[in-house]
Amino acid sequence: MTFIPLNESTILMPFAKTPLHHHFQLHLLSSIDSTNLFLKNYAHRTDQSIVDICCAETQTQGRGRFGRSWYSPVGENIYCSSRWYLPISDALAGLSLVISLAIHAALTALCHLPHLAIKWPNDVLWQDKKLCGTLIELIPTHQQCMAVIIGIGINVNSRSAHLSPIEKPWCTLSDITERMWDRNFIITQLMQQLYQYIHRFKQKGLLDFMTEWQQVDYLYSKKIIAMQGEHRFSGIAAGINEWGQLHLLDETGVSHYLSAGETSLQQSRRSSNQ
Ligand code: BTN
Repeated sequence: MTFIPLNESTILMPFAKTPLHHHFQLHLLSSIDSTNLFLKNYAHRTDQSIVDICCAETQTQGRGRFGRSWYSPVGENIYCSSRWYLPISDALAGLSLVISLAIHAALTALCHLPHLAIKWPNDVLWQDKKLCGTLIELIPTHQQCMAVIIGIGINVNSRSAHLSPIEKPWCTLSDITERMWDRNFIITQLMQQLYQYIHRFKQKGLLDFMTEWQQVDYLYSKKIIAMQGEHRFSGIAAGINEWGQLHLLDETGVSHYLSAGETSLQQSRRSSNQ
């Protein structure tokens, strides 16, 4: 398959026209173990307004949540991590949902996709199939700040039949839209949206995003199973609270609020299991 290579000036050109409070430093690599690992090992900035971004054509050890691997074929998809410095605060809890909303906004702006939803906390799904995953890692720094590494994998130009290992239903942008995409424009859009959403989150907190979340909440009112550590919960998903925790109402009417973990739909005759 022919593909358009990643290109620094295409990705960064739009930022030359808009003055931002943050300055993006792009590291474009042909191959790396993991773009998240690259930024974890990259020296911290004293100027914390600099956002380092690492994108690669392929990852040899792409990592997913819960220690899974992330399939990263050469040149087909987006493997992009960025490192942001944010003040340490309890309110950071909602950040991961806000990041998902930013990705959702970027994909919607570019591709005008209907049926795009977010499965708490981080999966972007199209018609019940996973299009994008996010791995967020928090690194304490010496100052009163956290370095937040946001690793985003978007299935772009692969054919989903070739995505492997297939444990769950997947899809790609080219499956959905029946065309190939220049990944450079998607990365630019992603960074623009991430910048805006993180800025707004710092000013106003998660509460400002509640309505937006409700509009894209994939799990809402569905029967689900949620695993948090060793604990298994089942019940109806009832949205999120002000801290971004998933509200699950169990069969006895008791509310549980989950701050991390994995969710899947309860099997019904026609439901799939994400
Ligand atoms: C998941 O859904 O399990 C999260 C997947 C995250 C994959 C991305 S690809 C870019 C970045 N580098 C990694 O090693 N992982 C993330």
